[in-house]
Amino acid sequence: MQKKVISSLIAGALLATNFVSCSTEVKETIVDKATTEANSTTKATEASATTKASEPVETIPDLPLVNPNFEGLSASEICATLTLEEKASQMVQGAYYNLSTNDMKENCYGSVLSYGYPCNTNSEWLDFVREYQYAALSNGTAIPFIYGNDFLHGVNVGFGATIFPHNINLGAANNPELMYEMGVITGSNMLYTGNLWNFSPCVAVAQDPRWGRTYESYSSDSSIVTSLATEYVKGMMTQDGIVPCAKHFFADGSTSFGTGEQLDGEVRLIDRGDAIIDDSEIADLLSVYQALIDEGVPSIMLSHSALNGVKMHENSEYIDYLRHVMGFEGVILSDWDSIHNCSGATLKDNVILSINAGVDMLMEASDFEECRNYIVEAVNEGSISIDRVDEAVTRILQMKLDCGLFEDPYLYNVEPSYDWNSDYEHEVARELATESMVPLKLPDGGEIILTEGMKVFVSGPASDDSGVLCGGWTYVWQGSQDGYGGSRWCSEGPTILEALKSSGKEIGFEIVTDAKEIDNCDVAILCVGEIPYAEWYGDAADISLTGPLALNNEPYINRLSDSDIPVITLIVAGRNVIIDDYIDNWDEVIMCYLPGSEGGNAVSDLLTGKASFSGHLPMPYYYSENDIGTGAYWLPVGYSAAD
Ligand code: BGC
Repeated sequence: MQKKVISSLIAGALLATNFVSCSTEVKETIVDKATTEANSTTKATEASATTKASEPVETIPDLPLVNPNFEGLSASEICATLTLEEKASQMVQGAYYNLSTNDMKENCYGSVLSYGYPCNTNSEWLDFVREYQYAALSNGTAIPFIYGNDFLHGVNVGFGATIFPHNINLGAANNPELMYEMGVITGSNMLYTGNLWNFSPCVAVAQDPRWGRTYESYSSDSSIVTSLATEYVKGMMTQDGIVPCAKHFFADGSTSFGTGEQLDGEVRLIDRGDAIIDDSEIADLLSVYQALIDEGVPSIMLSHSALNGVKMHENSEYIDYLRHVMGFEGVILSDWDSIHNCSGATLKDNVILSINAGVDMLMEASDFEECRNYIVEAVNEGSISIDRVDEAVTRILQMKLDCGLFEDPYLYNVEPSYDWNSDYEHEVARELATESMVPLKLPDGGEIILTEGMKVFVSGPASDDSGVLCGGWTYVWQGSQDGYGGSRWCSEGPTILEALKSSGKEIGFEIVTDAKEIDNCDVAILCVGEIPYAEWYGDAADISLTGPLALNNEPYINRLSDSDIPVITLIVAGRNVIIDDYIDNWDEVIMCYLPGSEGGNAVSDLLTGKASFSGHLPMPYYYSENDIGTGAYWLPVGYSAAD
């Protein structure tokens, strides 16, 4: 019904033809994050959109608009006009597959989120978001809602957008100017989708590579994290309307192995565990957030983890510190259902604990309505003060005022800096990917360059897989390898094999994939790595190339173990995987991390000498898992065999 109403009102001018199919698909792609199996998430299609967002159109008078009574009012004045129920609605955010447009129309909730993919293209996204906005403004309160998403490496949920390298690559590249450009491009592309709130950057300072979110961290060195994250945020904020969110406050990357959260029936080895750290480590981690606050970051998400035994979502000491000592005036958002794991006996207790600790908005995938009702009850019972609620709602409204939603709720007037899927974004992503590859070992005479007349044997499970290059958080939460249902996961750039074949044609070397030909080749390129994963699905005690998250590397490694030709090994992985057993058999070793859709081109640029190695290790490289945390390592942060 809702869909029909909006379609007839704004057909053609506002909505793309695939509006209805996108909305229908939403219902069909319901994936409960907590119960999703790794790598079994919704399948992406091969669609590769190069469409541009709808051209700005004139406001259609019949569309519901922001409440006219709010005109000229400040955030606190708007807040003062709201009922307690309306205020509580602003303080919750539900997942799109639970929070329907009818729910939105009924209660005018503050926000809706995804962790990926209900739509394919930028214009489908924009229509999808506008449908919710229509519903929010159809409610008597008529406060615009805001859509939040995880654009961790570019607009990684919209086909046709370049998939940028993951943060660990960006730390290896350590190029603040390009981080700024990546921020501008990400913000610009977000404007085409209507998703204004980006749960990024992740500023974890990852310490233990066994953590499944290691690749979401720029570096184990907080100064690298600070400089890259601030430039990225500055870049994103050049795009009027875009709201970055630094996460996860704080010490998410410092949790101890073996303390991972088990509370919701999931087995986690380290993710969401306890960070047992001292005052100087705490000060170091807080300095990252201070730099971002000084740059005006408008929102911060709390960490699922605990700090010295106290869950961050109820850690009033440090949330208070964030507010009153560090001076953060923006919105504090809880992480996905995370308040459920606070120390209260019931969800209502945990709502009270977390709101009183200083959380402004609750990310509650399915329990958003219950939480709203608990906030109302708690205020009426005196266990949450109305002042605390007013403070939270005023901040949320201020964020929405600042990003222009009160003036332009349907986003007719957004001005992205670049075209969607511009050549420029591919260039920036390619340069970042190239700069992010770290040589761990080079032959004595220097790197092996592929030149005219050579025969080059290319093999390994990472050689021809676009999904592996992109890793987790690519279209869907866990990402995927190619071949899911016979399809290719990411069509925005070539695989390593494809890129090498193109360069071979251009330069005049031959690519060989038939193993019977190895002995006739001049050099072998062995592409190994890890499967895509996200969050605790990536936790592992064994992070070797034969561990539980490894690709099927072993046969390919074995086949080249006593080869007479030089072997260049490329490692496509979300962390410094353990390679001590094999390194002696390899002549050249390049850590590629998760370089994204331009990763194949980047490899080819480096191996053909079009580009030189400039990446440096963003985290220490260990001989074995036993060295982690002992101070012993194989290669230090900042290492490159090319130096
Ligand atoms: C993750 C966050 C993410 C959120 C929404 C959580 O589980 O910890 O990083 O922003 O989900 O997808």
